[in-house]
Amino acid sequence: MRRLGFMVAIVATFSCLMAAQSISFDEGRKVWLLKTQQSSYAMGVGPDGQLEHLYWGGPLWRAQDVPAATNKKDISSFDPREMLENEEFPGWGGKRYYEPALKITRADGDRDLVLHYQSQATKGDELDITLKDINDDVEAVLRYRVYADVGVISRWATITNRTKQSFTVERAQSATWYMPPGDGYRLTYLSGRWAAETQINQEPIHEGMKVLESRLGHTGHNLNPWFAIDAGSADEEHGGVYFGALAWSGNWRISVEQTPYKQVRVTGGFNTFDFGYPLKPGQSLETPVFYAGFAADGFGGASRLLHNMEREYIAPGGLQSRLRPVLYNSWEATTFDVNQPGQEALAEKAAKLGVELFVMDDGWFGERNTDTAGLGDWVVNPKKFPNGLGPLIKRVNDLGMDFGLWVEPEMVNPDSDLYRKHPDWVMNFKGRPRSELRNQLVLNLARDDVRDYLFTVLDKLASENNIRYFKWDMNRTFAEPGWPEVAPEEQKELWVKYVNNLYDILARLRAKHPKLEIESCSGGGGRVDLGVLRYVDEFWASDNTEAFDRLRIQEGFSEAYGAKFMSAWVTDVPNMNGRSTPLQYRFLDAMQGALGIGANLNKWTSEDEQLATKMIALDKQIREVVQMGDLYRLLSPRTNDTTANEYVSKNADKAVLFAFRHSQEYNTPPPTIRLRGLDGKSVYRLESVDRKLTAPTTEVSGAYLMEHGLDVKLTGDFDSTAVVITRATQ
Ligand code: GLA
Repeated sequence: MRRLGFMVAIVATFSCLMAAQSISFDEGRKVWLLKTQQSSYAMGVGPDGQLEHLYWGGPLWRAQDVPAATNKKDISSFDPREMLENEEFPGWGGKRYYEPALKITRADGDRDLVLHYQSQATKGDELDITLKDINDDVEAVLRYRVYADVGVISRWATITNRTKQSFTVERAQSATWYMPPGDGYRLTYLSGRWAAETQINQEPIHEGMKVLESRLGHTGHNLNPWFAIDAGSADEEHGGVYFGALAWSGNWRISVEQTPYKQVRVTGGFNTFDFGYPLKPGQSLETPVFYAGFAADGFGGASRLLHNMEREYIAPGGLQSRLRPVLYNSWEATTFDVNQPGQEALAEKAAKLGVELFVMDDGWFGERNTDTAGLGDWVVNPKKFPNGLGPLIKRVNDLGMDFGLWVEPEMVNPDSDLYRKHPDWVMNFKGRPRSELRNQLVLNLARDDVRDYLFTVLDKLASENNIRYFKWDMNRTFAEPGWPEVAPEEQKELWVKYVNNLYDILARLRAKHPKLEIESCSGGGGRVDLGVLRYVDEFWASDNTEAFDRLRIQEGFSEAYGAKFMSAWVTDVPNMNGRSTPLQYRFLDAMQGALGIGANLNKWTSEDEQLATKMIALDKQIREVVQMGDLYRLLSPRTNDTTANEYVSKNADKAVLFAFRHSQEYNTPPPTIRLRGLDGKSVYRLESVDRKLTAPTTEVSGAYLMEHGLDVKLTGDFDSTAVVITRATQ
């Protein structure tokens, strides 16, 4: 025991030392080295004061090894040296033509900005480097934070006007990242549309620029603020992969640029489109946080680092937060037709299956009987719930479940009391059309009165009712983003202030109601990003709950976001596109995230209920491994007739394999699935949910499972299985 205590002390001291040294500074040569367990990152000050990027890649341990920053030489009168100097945060000024990180216009029209090093401050894992314009006091403080254990660093910038005149920020980026010089890089990114989010794309990077962005006001279904770059040949398990994710839920932009000198640079932050943010003397603008890292073990390695980062450092409660419970949501069963007896009947059925969180979706408030009216009127509809929500919540709680409620606070139907009372609260350009989508308009949340009103409404709901969970929806893109009440030069601030006020409400709600959990939904996956993840527990990944389509959506989602944050429902068939898959297939599919059920339980047969009860019990047994473990994407739905994903606990004691076969060609043999992440020297016990396993014995070494793999008898269309793998002996 004493010996163990001693060991713990040594480990603790060692990790303290490691943490203390995650940032080293070679003062003489002005070189910083940021160190994580998986990667290092270096930058330094050049002779003229420019802050240059020097290194990004596998781990280094000596700042002395990194050559200091130098002034390069002009190549020609068309290729000035600045274009070769890889500045960490270039201003737009002098002879700089690539994507700048910061561009301003001063009150007198002067737009030249050349940022040079001023000072630095290091505190533990935090480094702030202050840059200043060569002529006046336009200041940019570059923030670097090192998350050494998870291989991630984050960067953002605070722009402050320390001059005596106002200026307008026309472009404010969080960071520019540089790949090691060279050609042949490949970009991986996520694109999609409503009901088909997070599809994986890969393409070579050539000279010129590729822009990933949202101009929609929210993060968007079309592109997700995540990228990965590799040297052209990385795969799931091998090869260096650089990755980054921007933490912003509004208009964002990531540009990937290759210069004529084979330098790939990635710049990201606020979208520059329609951007304009005036700063009076003394005022500041903070850019979103841009997280990035490098993994030597392929795309799988990159995802695992990001998932670790999200669980430990980004999502509320960190590693202390609870595992996601099994949820039931009434939407696909009832749509707007909610009422107390109907919801109670569903709750009783859900509780019997083992559901832990019962969520009532849209339709419970105001005159919300269709999507044409009532949004904005967050008072319980007395015809549907004559005694308020209290009796339903009590019944749900008595059944042993928590209660959750759907809200869409940022929106109004024109046919609502709120809009009749405050028509000026929606974003609009005076006298111009107010374009509706799904019969609704967007409240101008940039206004502090709107922000405070919404906080009060939600706080009241959460204070007066035992609500454990809000499903926070946001069901349209912005249009006519006008703010006529403020001075013309301030109107474009809406893009930034809207998002900051959204974060403010979420933060205040969580602070006041510490047990409250929140799901981020925007017509499915329209608000999935690391900015909002600081305030929410789950994302609704897609309104498309069809299980086969979901495999691809979930695969792309998993590139950037952990399973714990991916709400996934079992729903009825035939689903959206008319496809029918077996219930077990749907369950196993959804159990790869935070399991939910969105089916009409009134229509389920007793066989369905039996299978559901078994699957929910299984989920409770394995969810810790799924939500907190390491994900290995073994077979991709993009390239195989079988999809296989494996989740392994951090200590390799337990794993679970999910496998799905979509449409077997006649007589094509069943796949052999090679596992990953186990301890080769240990023996593991295998339990198959449905005996589709043809292993020689039920106890197999990790070595065999990883070298040969499991033969899984999946045949025909939409067959599925899961195998639970538990360490039997060391
Ligand atoms: C959006 C959500 C759905 C559901 C409806 C309710 O479409 O994505 O899950 O909540 O709104 O109107």
